[in-house]
Order: sequence, then structure tokens, then C-alpha cells
Amino acid sequence: STKVAEIFETMAYGPAPEQSDYVQEWLDGHPDGFDLFIGGKWVAPEDKKKTIESRDPATGKPLARFSIAGKADVDKAVEAAQKGFAKWSRLSGHQRARHLYALARLIQKNSRFLSVLESMDNGKPIRETRDLDIPLASRHFYHHAGWAQLMDSELAGYEPLGVVGQVIPWNFPLLMMAWKIAPAIAAGNCVVLKPAEYTSLTALYFAEMCREAGLPDGVVNIITGAGDTGEMLVRHEAVTKIAFTGSTDVGRLIRKATAGTGKKLTLELGGKSPFLVFDDADLDSTVEGLVDAIWFNQGQVCCAGSRLLVEEGVADRLIEKVKHRLNHFRLGSPLDKAVDMGAIVDPVQRDRIDSLVNQSVTEGAVKWQPDVSCPTEGCYYLPTLLTDVSPANVAAREEIFGPVLTVTTFRTLAEATELANNSRYGLSASVWSENINRALEIAGMVKAGVVWINCTNQFDAACGFGGYRESGFGREGGREGMFEYLKRSDEWRKSGSDIIDKAKLPEISTKHVDVIDRTPKNYIGGKQKRPDGGNSLAVAGHDGKFVGRVGDGNRKDIRDAVEAAFKAEGWSKATAHNRAQILYYIAENLSIREEEFARRLSLLTGASAKAAKAEVDASIARLFSYGAWADKFDGLVHTPPMRNIALAMNEPLGVMGVVCPDTAPLLSFISLIAPHLAMGNRSVVIPSQRYPLIATDFYQVLETSDVPGGAINIVTGDREGLAKVLAQHDQLDGIWYFGSAEGSEMVERLSADNLKRTWVNNGKARDWASSNQGEGRQFLREATQVKNVWLPYGD
Ligand code: NAI
Repeated sequence: STKVAEIFETMAYGPAPEQSDYVQEWLDGHPDGFDLFIGGKWVAPEDKKKTIESRDPATGKPLARFSIAGKADVDKAVEAAQKGFAKWSRLSGHQRARHLYALARLIQKNSRFLSVLESMDNGKPIRETRDLDIPLASRHFYHHAGWAQLMDSELAGYEPLGVVGQVIPWNFPLLMMAWKIAPAIAAGNCVVLKPAEYTSLTALYFAEMCREAGLPDGVVNIITGAGDTGEMLVRHEAVTKIAFTGSTDVGRLIRKATAGTGKKLTLELGGKSPFLVFDDADLDSTVEGLVDAIWFNQGQVCCAGSRLLVEEGVADRLIEKVKHRLNHFRLGSPLDKAVDMGAIVDPVQRDRIDSLVNQSVTEGAVKWQPDVSCPTEGCYYLPTLLTDVSPANVAAREEIFGPVLTVTTFRTLAEATELANNSRYGLSASVWSENINRALEIAGMVKAGVVWINCTNQFDAACGFGGYRESGFGREGGREGMFEYLKRSDEWRKSGSDIIDKAKLPEISTKHVDVIDRTPKNYIGGKQKRPDGGNSLAVAGHDGKFVGRVGDGNRKDIRDAVEAAFKAEGWSKATAHNRAQILYYIAENLSIREEEFARRLSLLTGASAKAAKAEVDASIARLFSYGAWADKFDGLVHTPPMRNIALAMNEPLGVMGVVCPDTAPLLSFISLIAPHLAMGNRSVVIPSQRYPLIATDFYQVLETSDVPGGAINIVTGDREGLAKVLAQHDQLDGIWYFGSAEGSEMVERLSADNLKRTWVNNGKARDWASSNQGEGRQFLREATQVKNVWLPYGD
């Protein structure tokens, strides 16, 4: 017939719609809307009148109504989780593993249903839900069933946290839910999860599956609602950990809301990820990669490759090919198996995309869209290219969260990395080059939690996922993801404090001045520098008598120290062997001066000669420990179920603030600086406020030990005031704070601005002399972040 001839001519696909009537039937079975899933039962919310409507973005038609959980409902859900925890956490790992396995199987058995429901609710093509979202969700339960099984042996000494609150976004509703729930319950926690208000339906269906699987009551609780409900959950006192995925703005609010509460926190936030193409890239593969990077899920992907950075010589050819590909793009019903792109989740999001694109054009970008048909009904947005995008253009800076790619060219490798890293985000990067040496070099230089070489948007439950910088902190998946849901049983001392109350600082009597010849200084960039303000503080010995002075550092001193640390980038690039040697050398030089340091400790703290010697010995041993660790805290090679390997590398965080306690002033100081030196961080250290002379004495040890200038910087003075300046510093990558409970709150709250990594003690104390509390893998983990570099193999 002519029709067949026509099709032959155009080679166009006909529509291939997936059936959805049985899903519609399930939705129709809830004419009064969905209740909340609490304690293994469907529970009506207190306020039954308030509901949210879920709409099909492809048609705008309502799909279902669900509840808005209020304060009383959130309380109820948390209580149910607490009850559930009492039993769940006592099951054997094997028993928990069987439950996770049952959930994995049920997701598989329901995969068609879930794929259709997800596509209807979110608007993403069925091809994606069927091939990616749902199988990967199931894979997460399989993988984590394994962690539950192995927990006793592989994660010995760790225990679950209790009730975990989880808040997720709408772009991968079921998959994000699986990412959150599987590790949490594998570890023995119970969860209260709030799905996003646009897309709650697959989570509600999953709740039904939990019942079917016979999951004990209260292990998984699903409460629906909008941001207010999320906030109530985040603020709930009995919640011990928050895991959040969503916008960076909300992530910041959550960081502030949880500051000082002792709640553990992981944040998976936004991105503006570079997609780097070099002139030797296989351009046809690159085009397909780009399609997966930025037009997958309509570009509503936190790790979307939204910034194309292409080497000048191939830019025109690549853009030509991309345009050709887009001119054959098919937008249409998400349930059509043959579409390239479905609908945007909600008109609010589409309008946001459109307004950002318009603003970008106003700021000088050139917009290109293909000449393809775009459904007039429903919520669609054409794939879009923005060229001539300057680094200051809104589209180069802000996460658009839509099918919009910016194009920028570069000439040299240095320029490419500079452009790639010119972002406050650091979630992912994709590098395209047939030259493996070059690709791996770039992978090392790019600030991103995931780097895909000649591939893009690859995920697996065994490979940690998470960001650098303002893309958030913590990892999901793999061993590192498990630690986010666990705590060490013996992390802190049962009682006591590691700091001396300011009120209890001795009145310094200056009558018996016997040491006056010291000029107080800071240690910055490898040199002793006079404090900016020119002021100094008197230091007393244990008997309250004056023994010396130290500099009274201020904001300017901290800024200088941070700058010096930034300049010392070479330390982060030094080999592990080299760092180890220097740590041993510091130990050797401390050892030479052992008696002097012991005497000083006795004078300052009143420690007996024996105790003081023991502290110096322990400090020397600790330096040896980190010399040993420097070249042994290796990464892993993951073998995900695709033709890839993923290299999980422990990278230094960068420039760190370190605020030291008063107890065991030499040992705690060494215990906190040595892991940073070992892992390649550069740090700015505020020593004990009561015993700062131990740190100033240490300048000479550093000076004689070949520690490069700027790798470690020391500023003495008012600990809390200086900690505040560090927490507010917008370039610092992280801060360890071992002071008071109030100081911990302050540090976490102020760190929200640039989302620096924090490790605080909440006023608790450690036994610095013990090898459990005073050193080890936890320190190394807190000093590093995992970068997963994905490498394909084969053709
Ligand atoms: P959002 O961050 O507001 O929402 C994510 C989740 O957080 C939802 O479940 C929401 O109900 C909840 N939430 C909102 N305010 C909260 C609060 N104060 N406390 C606790 N939970 C709260 O993101 P939204 O409004 O859906 O999207 C806005 C923009 O955010 C997008 O255009 C995109 O740029 C970005 N975004 C990024 C995501 C990512 O994965 N990187 C995911 C979703 C959004």
C-alpha cells in the first residue's frame, strides 16, 4: 500500500503505546484518595480535607489525590518507626537480607506496572522507566540485601542509627526511594519517607508491596505532603538521620535546621555538570552520549551534562551532528515506546525552564531548537541548544533542570578544566576522548563526585554517588553509602568534655613572669607570622601562673592562612609515599624533642612526668600510624553489571579548618592534623585555647620536617571566634570541630552557605589515647571524599 511505501520513505516509527488500563484501574480503586502508610497500615491523616492532586503531565488530567501529613501524622509515623526499630534492629542480618530480597523480587514482578505508573505520574518515557528506573530500583534492594547479610562481618563495630527521615524529589521517584530505603533498612534502621508532591504514586504502590512482602510493621513508613511536611520530618526530635535529595536551596535549609542536633545528614543536591569533548573523541558516540546526558528524563537530572565544553577544532562538526540528531527527535506520549522525550513534570517546572532560557538569551546566548513537532497539549519543552554562552550567563551558572544544553568551546586542556571547574557545583562530569591518558588526567582534575569517561549517566547500587562542593555531601550506594546509615558503637566517651570551660580558665597572675622573651606568632605558609592585630594573649600553666604569650589571631589571620593553604595545592598532588615519608619525619623530629615536649606538657597541664611522656610517645606513634595509612587508604574497583568498571578513589577534600580540643592537647592536636596530612588536605588549625603553647612549640618540628609551606597553618587565639570565621569562609572545603555543643551548632549552621563538609563532636569527648576513638579509618573517611571514575571496556 502507499502507506507502507510512505513509511519506507520516511523511515518514521509509528506510535507504540504501552497499555495502561490496569494501572488506571488501580488508581480508580482509590476514589477517596490515598491515606498515609504508617506502621504497616493505611492511616487517614488528621486533616482529611487537605489533599494534593497528582496530574499526568502528558495530558494535564488528574490521576489521583493523596494526603498531606500534618504534625500529628508525622509524629505518628516517627513513633511507628521507633516501635519498628526495636524489633528490626535486633533481627539478624540474614533475616533482614531476606526481607530486602523479597522487596527486590516484588519490584521485578511488578516492573511493568511500576514502569507505566511512573511514566504516567512523572511524564518520563516508558523506555526509560522500563530499562532504567525500575530495574535499578530492584538492583538497589538486591545489592543492599547483601550488605544486610554481611553486616556483622564487613561492618563490625557499627550499629544502626534509629529512625531515618528521607525526603526525595520528583525526577526519579521510585529509584530515589530505593536509593534511600534499601541502605537504611539493610543497616537496621527504620524509615519515614516523604516522596515529592508531584510524584508520590509509585511510593504509595511500593507501600502496598511492603505489606505484600510481609515487611514488619513500622520499618517503612510513607507520608505524603509538600515542603511543610518535609520540614516537620526534618525537625522531628526522634529522627536521628536525614537523607535528602533535591534542590540546593532546600538542602541549605535542612543543613541549618539540623545544625547542632547531632542528626547525621546526607545531601544530594543540584549540579551544572560539564560534558567535555576533545578533538580526538568519537563524535558519533559523543552525540549519543549527549542525548543521554541532557535529554534523558527531559534533562530533569541532577547530574545532567548540561554544559557542553568542546574543543574548538571539532565544535562545528559536533554541533552539526547534534542538530541533525535533534531534528529527528520525537517528543510525545510518555507511554509511547518510540519517543525520545516525554513531558516535563509540571507546568511550574516548564515555566521555570522557559524563563531561564529567555533570561539567558537576554544575556547574549543564542537559542536553537529543532524543527520537530511538539505536542500542544500537555507539558512539553523542545530540546534546546544555547550557544555563545559566556561564563557569567545565567545558563552557565544556574541549574536549569530541563532539556537545555549550553555550548562553550575551549582550546587547551588547561582551559577545559578551568571551565569545567568554574561552578559552585561538583556532582558529575563526562569526558570524551579516545586518548585514555588524557581522559584519566582530566578525571583527576575535575571537581566532581562521579566522572564518566566515554559514557554518561551510568549508575549502580555498588558504586557510590554524590557530589563535591555545593552539590552536597555523603554518598549513596556501595560501602561508603552504608556508613551514612551507621554509627560506631564506641565513637565517643560515655561522659565528660574535651574542652575546658572558659569560665574555668585560670586568672593569670602576671606577678611571676618568668618567660617573657617569646614573640607570639602564627604559623602561616610555612613561616612564623605576627598576628594582624598585633595583640597577644597570656597563657597560664596548670598552677595559673603566667608561662608565655600567644598571638590573638583574627579574621585577617584566618583569611591569610586559608589563602596560604590554597596556594599549597602541591601537597594534595604529592604522592602517598612522599606524604608518608614526611609524617615519619615529623615523628622523628618530635621524638628528638620528646623530653622538652613532655616537660612543657607537665608545666601546662599538670600531668605527671610519666603521663606527659606517655602523651608524647602516643603522639609519635600516631604520626607513625598516619604515615602508615598514607599509602594504604586505597580506593576500590567496582564491577557494575554493565561493560564498565568504576574506580572509587579517595580524594582529599582540599582546604580544611581544624578546631582542636583541650584534653590531651598534644595528642589530640596530632590526631587531628595527621589524617589531613596523610590524605593530602591542607589545613588551617586552631589549637587548644587553654594550651596553645604546645602547638606553637610544634612550629619548629614542622619547620625541620620538610612539610611544605601552607600544607598546615596554625592560628592561635579565641577558639570559638576563630572557628566562626572558618565556618563562614566561603572557600573552605570542610571543617572538623572538636569543641562545645554550642560551637558545633554554630559550625554546622554557618557551614550551610557553601555547604562545607563538617565533622563536629556536639560537645562529646573522645579517648584520644585509644586506638578506637583516637585514630583510624573514620578519620580518613572524614578527610576524604570518594570520586567514582567510570571506564568502559570493549567496543
Ligand atoms: P525541592 O528541593 O523543593 O523539593 C525536593 C523535595 O523536598 C520535595 O519532596 C519537597 O516536598 C521537599 N521539600 C521542600 N521544601 C522542604 C523543606 N523546607 N524541608 C524539607 N523538605 C522540603 O525541589 P522542587 O521545588 O521540586 O524543584 C525546584 C528546583 O530544584 C528544580 O527546578 C531543580 O532545579 C531543583 N531540583 C533538583 C533536584 C536534584 O536532584 N538535583 C531534584 C529536584 C529539584
